[in-house]
Amino acid sequence: MKEKVKIFLTEQEVDERIAEIAKQISTDYAGKEVHLICILKGSVFFMCELAKRITVPVSMDFMSVSSYGNDTKSSGVVRIVKDLDEPLDGKDVLVVEDIIDSGRTLSYLMEILGRRNPRSLRLCTLLDKPERRVKQVEVDYTCFNIPDEFVVGYGLDYAQKYRNLPFIGIVEFVEE
Ligand code: IMP
Ligand code: MG
Repeated sequence: MKEKVKIFLTEQEVDERIAEIAKQISTDYAGKEVHLICILKGSVFFMCELAKRITVPVSMDFMSVSSYGNDTKSSGVVRIVKDLDEPLDGKDVLVVEDIIDSGRTLSYLMEILGRRNPRSLRLCTLLDKPERRVKQVEVDYTCFNIPDEFVVGYGLDYAQKYRNLPFIGIVEFVEE
């Protein structure tokens, strides 16, 4: 099977929506500093574009988790591959994720981070597939709700490919 990528959200559509969310975050965090946590690697592009547009002071940290699963499904068992550099005590923490699918990864992660005494803890995602939810997770900022399709680009991969696409595309599998 070979795969083909069809444009689903253009670069302009994504950038415009990120600007709107950044404005909302800047309003909600007025007078505070927001500590952004990027969940590697998928969230890198989104985090950069979001951070550039937030007008309150921003600090950043990075975390990498892996779920024991295959390419298109997460198992719910999450392993911290790279932990944060800084403690979260007293910080207004905003987790930045690329996509929420079953919700397993994020429900586990939010629980772990919540135990590290942040002053507040919220979640921002570029994409959400609400139809696929298995584990409930509270999402504070969503750029786009999308249907149950496998998407790539803007940081998202299929077998580590396509992260660099400037748009979000749907993967279609075709017979060779
Ligand atoms: P969850 O634990 O099922 O919510 O899985 C979330 C993770 O699965 C995301 O952070 C992605 O790494 C991956 N994922 C889920 N759906 C997609 C998709 O459509 N394209 C690329 N990665 C996806
Ligand atoms: Mg991810």
